Amino acid sequence: MKQKEVFAQSEGNAWFSRNAAAQAARHLPQDDDVLVQILRLPQPAQGARLLEVGFGDGSRLDWLKGHTGYQCQGIEPSADAVAAASSKGLEVVQGTADRLPFDDGRFDALIFGFCLYLCDREDLFRIASEADRVLKNPGWLVIRDFYSAMPDKREYHHRPGVFSHKMDYRTLFSWHPCYTCYFHEVRHHASHAVTDDRGEWVATSVLRKNLA
Ligand SMILES: C[S@@+](CC[C@H](N)C(=O)[O-])C[C@H]1O[C@@H](n2cnc3c(N)ncnc32)[C@H](O)[C@@H]1O
Repeated sequence: MKQKEVFAQSEGNAWFSRNAAAQAARHLPQDDDVLVQILRLPQPAQGARLLEVGFGDGSRLDWLKGHTGYQCQGIEPSADAVAAASSKGLEVVQGTADRLPFDDGRFDALIFGFCLYLCDREDLFRIASEADRVLKNPGWLVIRDFYSAMPDKREYHHRPGVFSHKMDYRTLFSWHPCYTCYFHEVRHHASHAVTDDRGEWVATSVLRKNLA
């Protein structure tokens, strides 16, 4: 079975029940480097739309909806996460990153927050292609994930047979001449401090799509 099916059937719900309370207790925006980076960007234009892929507990989307001009949408394999986010009035659908049920060029900004490390490696081209398809030109792409200069695969300790993958996720897009990395920060996963401990590296990257 592919990992995306494992997450759709059970592991997404398991992540949600393990983490929803802790996620909701965070102080936003300061505890979330994705939000910190988004707040550095120019104000969104009237009617600008944002998509979070693999939105988890939905607290980031909820904050963005309440504090920015973006119209926010999300997609997530966990039925429980989708139900919880819908009950808060968020516009969300159940699904996975390799198949985004949205029109071409719908979104001005797209977020992958700790999502790509769980995705099937054979889906990475499709995932990048789908993100590029739904992202407007020009558009913002924000990626926060486990970082390693060389790809690294490990057993996902919550579920045997599932793997997590570290790499430089910018490279899914940055080879393309129309994507430019504007910000890239590598920090310690837990403390958020600058660290030489490579095993703890997490990167937050902001890429600009501009097909000028
Ligand atoms: C570690 S959580 C991160 C949640 C949230 N984005 C955040 O930054 O806090 C990973 C999320 O990705 C979802 N996920 C796993 N595989 C996915 C896939 N193929 N496509 C989209 N989301 C996926 C999981 O269900 C889970 O909610």
